[in-house]
Amino acid sequence: MNSKIISIGSYIPSNTVTNKDLEKTVDTTDEWIVSRTGIKQRPIADSSQATSDLAFEAATIAIERAKIDKNDIDLIIVGTCTPDVATPNVGTLIQKRLGLSNFPAFSIEAACSGFIYALNIADKFIKTGESKCALVVGAETLSRITNWDDRNTCVLFADGAGAAILKPTDDKGIIFSELGANGEYADLLHVPYGTSRKPEKSSKDDYFLRMSGNEVFKVAVKTLEEIAIDALKKSNIESKDVDWFIPHQANVRIIQAVAKRLELPEEKVILSMDIHGNTSAASIPLAFDRAVQDGRIKKGDTILMQSFGAGFTWGSVLLEL
Ligand code: UT7
Repeated sequence: MNSKIISIGSYIPSNTVTNKDLEKTVDTTDEWIVSRTGIKQRPIADSSQATSDLAFEAATIAIERAKIDKNDIDLIIVGTCTPDVATPNVGTLIQKRLGLSNFPAFSIEAACSGFIYALNIADKFIKTGESKCALVVGAETLSRITNWDDRNTCVLFADGAGAAILKPTDDKGIIFSELGANGEYADLLHVPYGTSRKPEKSSKDDYFLRMSGNEVFKVAVKTLEEIAIDALKKSNIESKDVDWFIPHQANVRIIQAVAKRLELPEEKVILSMDIHGNTSAASIPLAFDRAVQDGRIKKGDTILMQSFGAGFTWGSVLLEL
């Protein structure tokens, strides 16, 4: 039994910070940000919104579009590295908001790979018959762990959520999915202190994301090229048969390098960092939903998704919609 995405929904906060806005607060330019990253603006949650609020909005849209009874949902998995609180997890917070109970609901901590990790796990629950209807979410409020005085990071990160409903199918659905990680690289992209690790003397910067951007960039390109080729090879699918490539939206130059290696024309590459920024676990479902809503992605299309993020973690999913 395979699993299939039957609907997708997404939500971004209405407040937008543009590159021009950031020119006023840090030493940067719109030209630098667009040419180095592809980002033009980023949605930022208002102070009343936490990650589960964004996740709930995206989930509600995905449920409506799936035309299912929400009571059919028997599994919730949320990819996030910015949970509302240490506990309870964001999965159970959404479960409660949806008025549901008595089935597994949990969060996965895999940074930008959170949605792909969650999809992979939900696929396995469905394959084993343990779930008949799964809600998979990628949701973040990265603005809460961003140092708004650090031009190396504040121009990149953003807030948003995307959600998908998965059901068993006799069709192909998810054809292939594989995850990976290498903790050796942990310090290249990390938040030094947090819930249980505390500095001897605390400064507010200790609780914000730090990134050695250029070093992350190099490993990201190499890893993403390798896992994309691997996914196609193991699925017996040629890159010309891929209709859409939906990568994690960290940097347009990383995506272009991988697409070139796969010989994928740019029309097949879904980009959304221009309006969404880098929303970590939310970035793939946000880009996915954008392309479904504007009519590019259709039922029956073959889609390759791939992610890379802090940890480092990575993963790919190849599916027929
Ligand atoms: O989402 C999880 C995974 N994350 C990623 O995959 C991100 C990977 N990394 C990147 O996307 C890129 O490395 C960045 C966009 C973060 C940076 O681009 P880069 O081309 O690697 O720039 P760089 O870090 O090598 O810096 C080049 C120059 C430096 O100045 P000098 O030393 O050449 O004088 C930086 O100080 O650009 C400077 N710089 C900036 N200038 C204007 C760094 N940030 C900015 C900025 N505005 N915001």
